[in-house]
Amino acid sequence: MRATVTAHRDYRIAAIDDRLYGAFLEHLGRAIYSGIYEPDHPTADANGMRRDVIELARALKIPLVRYPGGNFVSAYNWQDGVGLREKRPTRLDLAWHASESNAVGVHEFAAWCEAVGTEMMLAINLGSRGLDEARNFVEYVNGPTGSYWGDLRKANGRAEPFGVKHWCLGNEMDGPWQVGHKTAHEYGRLANEVAKTLRAFDPSLNLVVCGSSHSDMPTYPEWERVVLEHCFDAVDYISLHMYFANYEKNTAEYLALNHKLDAYIGSVAATIDFVRARKRSKKRVAISFDEWNVWYHSKEQDREILAGAKGWPQAPRLLEDVYNFEDVLQVGCILNTFIRRSDVVRIACVAQLVNVIAPIMTEPRGPAWRQTIYYPYYFASRFGRGDALQLSVRSPGYDSAVADNIPYLDVAGVHDAEGRALTFFAVNRHASESIDLEADLHGFGHAAIANHQVMTSESLEAANTRDAPSTVTPKKGATAAVVNGRLNAKLPPYSYQMIRLSLS
Ligand code: AHR
Repeated sequence: MRATVTAHRDYRIAAIDDRLYGAFLEHLGRAIYSGIYEPDHPTADANGMRRDVIELARALKIPLVRYPGGNFVSAYNWQDGVGLREKRPTRLDLAWHASESNAVGVHEFAAWCEAVGTEMMLAINLGSRGLDEARNFVEYVNGPTGSYWGDLRKANGRAEPFGVKHWCLGNEMDGPWQVGHKTAHEYGRLANEVAKTLRAFDPSLNLVVCGSSHSDMPTYPEWERVVLEHCFDAVDYISLHMYFANYEKNTAEYLALNHKLDAYIGSVAATIDFVRARKRSKKRVAISFDEWNVWYHSKEQDREILAGAKGWPQAPRLLEDVYNFEDVLQVGCILNTFIRRSDVVRIACVAQLVNVIAPIMTEPRGPAWRQTIYYPYYFASRFGRGDALQLSVRSPGYDSAVADNIPYLDVAGVHDAEGRALTFFAVNRHASESIDLEADLHGFGHAAIANHQVMTSESLEAANTRDAPSTVTPKKGATAAVVNGRLNAKLPPYSYQMIRLSLS
């Protein structure tokens, strides 16, 4: 099969925001305990954080990590997680039916972020708590000493404000499963008041209001309209979430789902524009896609714990999806969609980062390893920085339940003018046919292959595990060449590729 791409250096979608490659860590299962934090692990640092995990996370160059939830945050009291550890209370976590020791709180997480070279993006509890607690938390984290909350932070070991720029006003408040679930009107009004109050403290904060938990919610996209009508002038981002599943074992349908994601982004962007027009405003609100990933492999095994049949365990094995090769293709397509919609999606967070639906897995007292999906995330985050290109793509396609004519070739292009590089991320969705890709490159000057990585597998089910951590890994590609300003590459059936060209 043949597919053609035309790339021109002047045809660009947007400058990609680095925050497109963010991540998420929740107090859920083993994400924190025995994920990032395990004081008696052989690699633990002075803060009890696993150095092996820090190294794997550092390599991803993650710009920001959302914390501490998720559903967890909607009944969380941040004060439980500060002060002397011995005095911190153990609480019942109502979201995930577990016991929370509070051994890790905002101070410990900040130290971890520093070690990883990333920033915190903090979520505020607007489920069981409200405006005053939101204000107190932000002042504790960012306020000056010489005030009550700043002095308390100092007494707890940190005089300097943490300087957290990104704040999420609650989590999935449209979801009936959420502690403190609200109607769009109730939430929109509260979010507006909280945002106004936080801005009175610091007008420069980046404030994220909750959009829909997914695009099959009965309230979507009316939720976005109503919430934004309340708080448009006070917030900067609207948060969207989406998880991908292949229960039917139908790869063609599964790999078409990023077109559903694209439509979701498109309709929320249109809703933002609608509210903006109604308000006669010139203000821009963008999308923070702060939870996305594949999530379904573990659902069956989680049922008993979530139903409370196992009591209130500490750090239970929850949401421990073992990702396969098929998920590499899916994650590649999702990231390509974010690059192509980088004009409106400015922040995105893979959910989550360690152990819980995560690219990084650990064993208590044992090793840490990369799941299959670590790689497409790694390549996009490392090499997908610069300008997203408006590619013209011609590829044969197939009809699916979510959209017709899904191209077998899913491709995104990124021009890094400063680094003099042009990078293509490509997925071949075809089960049995290779794609002969021809990409015309206009206005880029001389181009040469600098780095070509290919992921293929004999089995879509192949996975990386503790005992076989390198079953699915990228290999150096050998089938791409640039001749007379044209990139030619052969993309094997069901494959993911990252082709980086150096420009001179
Ligand atoms: O990431 C797992 C959960 O998915 C989060 O806690 C919640 O926000 C979403 O429903």
